[in-house]
Amino acid sequence: MASLAKIYGPVMSLKLGMTNLVIISSPDTAREALQKNDAAVSARWVPDNPHALNHHEVSIAWLSSSSPLWKNLRTVVTTHLMSARCLDMTRTIRQEKSRELMTYFHENAGKSIRLSLPLFGVMLNLTSNLLFSEDVLDLGSDSTEDFKELVASALEEIAKPNVSDFYPFLRALDLQGRRRIAKVYLEKFYNYFDGIITRRLTGVTQMKENTGDFLDSLLKLHSDSNLDLRTIKGLLTDLFVASSESGSITIEWAMAELLRNHSVMLKARAELKEKIGSKQVEETDIPKLPYLHAIIKETMRLHPAGPLMLPHKVTEAGVEIGGFTLPKDARVMINVWAIGRDSTAWSEPDIFIPERFLLREVDFRGQDFEFIPFGSGRRLCPGLPLAVKTIPLMLASMLHEFEWMLPDGIRHSDVDLKDRFGASLALATPLQAVPIPVIATD
Ligand code: HEM
Repeated sequence: MASLAKIYGPVMSLKLGMTNLVIISSPDTAREALQKNDAAVSARWVPDNPHALNHHEVSIAWLSSSSPLWKNLRTVVTTHLMSARCLDMTRTIRQEKSRELMTYFHENAGKSIRLSLPLFGVMLNLTSNLLFSEDVLDLGSDSTEDFKELVASALEEIAKPNVSDFYPFLRALDLQGRRRIAKVYLEKFYNYFDGIITRRLTGVTQMKENTGDFLDSLLKLHSDSNLDLRTIKGLLTDLFVASSESGSITIEWAMAELLRNHSVMLKARAELKEKIGSKQVEETDIPKLPYLHAIIKETMRLHPAGPLMLPHKVTEAGVEIGGFTLPKDARVMINVWAIGRDSTAWSEPDIFIPERFLLREVDFRGQDFEFIPFGSGRRLCPGLPLAVKTIPLMLASMLHEFEWMLPDGIRHSDVDLKDRFGASLALATPLQAVPIPVIATD
């Protein structure tokens, strides 16, 4: 799509089956869509898949932005999970999970590790502890854990093309069985969360330290008649699906770029040594690491976890973007991947140069449209405040405590940076790397 946009321009219209698709591929046109016309373009174009169990009726990700329930869910997440106060209270959980990841690497020192596995696992455990104070898997175990398998398979399923999305009149027939499969996954999620909720309500498990966790807040809202249980299960499902892979993939991409660009790796480790010394990295150290932040931004510019965001929908007639009038009800995809590589916004756009973010103030909070890995406007990712704490902490700890080598026989230039489009943008060849401990841990 990025190549097509170079020929046909930053606003392209495609007819896929019976549906209209508009692809936005430049910073200026993204600004027109997500800022100037935010209200008219921030509904969701909902594929058939989330219609299973009518999940789309309770889903923060799929409800329209005009829905009172969507507004309520965004407020619940912002207030009870992502506020500065909540994030302060959950700092120890992030540090604990980062430590568990480091322990895993220490236990596997000198071995070639497929990084995506412990990274994905630790992100799942981090999410589950933030939401309901329980681990969902054992990081050290090689067995295929049910929950990990469930999230991974559900993510894989979301990405598969479905004829019902191109010919909506065929939806009722579900010709490829995609909705039936989605229903099976959603039922597993809902049943899993049913068990957690029942245990909490019957007092079998309690949150740590009696401070109250996100599930407690949700159940309090439930008892005040502000949220029903089905909506709570839908929200927990969406938060798991949205949070686990986006974070682990971003760290894996950063490591792949660092292993390929060895001088950047050395510079990052020198910054850590200078600013942190020989102690372990803590979350409060993170603001002292501008080069590490530049590496994460440069990684997200080249490898945004959600390269096309989630599909938006035009809800008003006469919306104009880049001089073109968008058809009402069209699906709108914002090509974040193309925007991050736009040669009018970025010099040497395909090259990994973290220093560019030290020379230029560009942030990912949705105001600088040449760099919108978390989206912008009403549908800006609500998980951003958590992601910008978790990703630097884990990456900094990995770089500070270990020297990273490639498996025998693989040179820096051999690291494969080709990507594979799924629910998120993953590496086509999963990264293997060998941790060699360099600082002692207590
Ligand atoms: C590297 C980390 C992450 C990236 C790059 C990322 C990116 C995005 C993007 C591009 C969108 C779609 C925006 C749009 O369609 O306009 C989104 C939506 C969303 N994200 Fe994230 N995200 C990340 C982490 C998280 C985390 C940690 C959570 C929650 C714990 C989360 C929860 C959500 C939810 C619930 C939505 C749907 C919001 C809505 O439709 O109103 N994300 N994210």
